[in-house]
Amino acid sequence: MTSHPQVPSPLEPVPQLDLAAQYAAIGGEIRTAVERVMASQHYVLGREGAALEEEIAKLCGVAHGVGLASGTDALILALRACGVQPGDEVLLPPFTFVATGSAVSALGAKPVFADIRPDTYNMDPAELERRVTPRTRAVIVVHLYGLPADMDPILAMAKARKLPVIEDNAQAIGASYKGRRTGSLGDVACLSFYPTKNLGAYGDAGMVVTNSADIAARVRTLRNHGQSEKYLSSEPGWNSRLDEIQAAILRVKLRHLSNWKRARQSHAAEYDRLFVQIPGVMPPLAPEGFEHVYHQYTIRIEQRDALHKFLSERKIGSTVYYPYPLHLQPLYSTLGHKAGDFPHAERAAQEVLSLPIFPELRKEQIASVVETIAEFLKC
Ligand SMILES: Cc1ncc(COP(=O)(O)O)c(C=O)c1O
Repeated sequence: MTSHPQVPSPLEPVPQLDLAAQYAAIGGEIRTAVERVMASQHYVLGREGAALEEEIAKLCGVAHGVGLASGTDALILALRACGVQPGDEVLLPPFTFVATGSAVSALGAKPVFADIRPDTYNMDPAELERRVTPRTRAVIVVHLYGLPADMDPILAMAKARKLPVIEDNAQAIGASYKGRRTGSLGDVACLSFYPTKNLGAYGDAGMVVTNSADIAARVRTLRNHGQSEKYLSSEPGWNSRLDEIQAAILRVKLRHLSNWKRARQSHAAEYDRLFVQIPGVMPPLAPEGFEHVYHQYTIRIEQRDALHKFLSERKIGSTVYYPYPLHLQPLYSTLGHKAGDFPHAERAAQEVLSLPIFPELRKEQIASVVETIAEFLKC
């Protein structure tokens, strides 16, 4: 391996994400919203949550939103609302955050993986066709890093087999595919408002969005102990309610989301422009008709681990999302997979690196990140 100089370059540190900069800009609005909830002394299932559900559903271009405690709960409850039972198979990509798979396992269903495309990191529709069996009960599609998956062939395949499609839209709120918003493409979609997401709460929160009144009603019941009316439970549920303080904070942030999206897209364009000069780095792809919202700006480079170390020595943030594909996680050892089963996911896990991207990022910081990567490649 090439050895690199240990002396840090004089360029300024760049964080991977700077939520303090966001709070500095909108802190006043947030405090007013939180104060409003505290003045009302109404903390669970109130006006803020109901208003947020409507606003998010509108943003996604669907009829219903159901606020929940996390994106993971959104996946679990969406799967239940789609009728997934213990022993059923659910198709999903192996290159995603573990929650996509553990939601399937939480129901006693079996995750069946379909490899990704090496250029978009999203599920390969052709692979999906190969993995479907008579026991398949649902498909989960992930819009990884903020880029929509290629939905048309996936939806066509699912329709032909009458399989419900669940979008894991945790990373892609506000993105669109051929003019349609992610979250409106499948039967039901799941959102995460984890603090680092493009629309992040000040704690855990999530939502299910759907055009189906039946799915929305079922998730509403399940999130509140299976109660169809107060103190009358028709099935086992649990507590997965989105609280009013988080909803009020999210409503403030939602007003800024389209500006923040534009800022992320403009930063990505600047990175793309600078990376044209740098062979050896593959910038993220956004095919024609796929609107990327850059939850992450993820490059691909063979010497990934060495670059990750080089950047961290120079105080430039970077993160590997995700170093272990799901089929090789100890969690799934009982499924009997081995290295080589999903080669595109495995190679991506070794070569991807997400660079600093957040709305307040400055052009000079982008230049500094790219210059440092150029310096690494010259060593
Ligand atoms: C792709 C994906 N799916 C699911 C989740 C789970 O969301 P949460 O952390 O809100 O439970 C996340 C985020 O953490 C995610 O990135």
